[in-house]
Amino acid sequence: MLRGKKIVLGVTGGIAAYKTAFLVRLLIKAEAEVKVIFTPSAFDFVSPLTFSTLSKNPVVSEFTQNAKTGEWTNHVAYGAWADLLIIAPLTANTLAKMANGICDNFLLATYLSAKCETIVAPAMDLDMFAHATTKANLEKLKSFGVKILPSPKGELASGLEGEGRMAEPYYIFEKIENYFNSHKTLINKRIVITAGPTHEPIDPVRFIGNRSSGKMGYALAAEALERGALVSLVSGPTTQKLTHKNLKLISVNTAQEMFDATTQHFKDADMGIFAAAVGDYKVKNPSDKKIKKQTEQTLVLTKNPDILAECGSSKKESQLVVGFALETNDGEKYAKDKLIAKNADFIVLNSTQDKGAAFGHDTNKVTLVSRGNNPLSFELMTKQNLAKQLFDIWEKHL
Ligand code: CTP
Repeated sequence: MLRGKKIVLGVTGGIAAYKTAFLVRLLIKAEAEVKVIFTPSAFDFVSPLTFSTLSKNPVVSEFTQNAKTGEWTNHVAYGAWADLLIIAPLTANTLAKMANGICDNFLLATYLSAKCETIVAPAMDLDMFAHATTKANLEKLKSFGVKILPSPKGELASGLEGEGRMAEPYYIFEKIENYFNSHKTLINKRIVITAGPTHEPIDPVRFIGNRSSGKMGYALAAEALERGALVSLVSGPTTQKLTHKNLKLISVNTAQEMFDATTQHFKDADMGIFAAAVGDYKVKNPSDKKIKKQTEQTLVLTKNPDILAECGSSKKESQLVVGFALETNDGEKYAKDKLIAKNADFIVLNSTQDKGAAFGHDTNKVTLVSRGNNPLSFELMTKQNLAKQLFDIWEKHL
């Protein structure tokens, strides 16, 4: 299943383009989202109507949609949207341009700006395929990290027999599936994640809370699921949403509820990530009736249980524990202290000094503190990207 996978499919001007229509159908059947880009010469071989109907998206080819009004199609947005860029068929011409950074059409601009992996299926006549320039260009693309599918032997459009046919749609489809599955590095790993704030009741209508949005914890949960993990997300009140067949979402309000659910799920987990902003205190005797206003009001607070410290102290050798820390000053020192005090393996340190970081933002800037290693500082980036980079490190320890 490729459900929700975003695929940009480039079609260049080769006779094999008619087969690519079938690839679109396979991708759509597997629930991928597909956006098709034609090079100008692709129109000579296939109709955009076939591809827009199959992909359920308009086929794009030009930078400008309406030259008079100056409306344009954003190739950077296409590149950023894609989880994977496929070019099938890849002609010798487009190959040569890709190998040399030429950018004279929308597909090439998208290729140059895409952050995702690119897979190409070359297709050309046997002599063109065998030419030293083509071989050198393919080697060059390979060195840029582009995945090149084989062009098997067989009958070619020229009537000749030899290497240069486009890989069959089923084969390309299988490679796409394999690509996404190879990222499933956490299959069957059980991960418990706490996220969001906690609400400690004062009376039936009031509570003590904090400004945590839950975005970081949810981004981590989404990334773990993406990698194939089984995630128990113990979430305080938040507007964040996440659904997935491998997700168990446990919604809680108070720190005590979060403690009970998390410690329960942590017992059989491979990893615990404690991203919630847990209230340190709760009201000692919350009122069961709404408290009427008075000139003065005193609330007596008592300490909440520390979920991270409890899981850290009970953790088995094989379990990985990650805590978070938000500090105003001397962050690395305090984070190291927390690492030891709570028996964690990693502490993700946020500083209130960093713009665009921590509570409420879509971006974050953190330093990862661990035992025996120098602290590792990350640039400011989206919480989704940060989740990816953090899991690239953590998964090596699982
Ligand atoms: N944490 C927790 N349970 C609590 C309190 C905190 O699981 N009752 C976790 C948080 O999810 C986070 C880390 O502990 O991973 C934060 O540590 P904490 O000691 O709460 O930070 P501060 O409140 O900033 O502590 P201090 O005032 O000691 O710096």
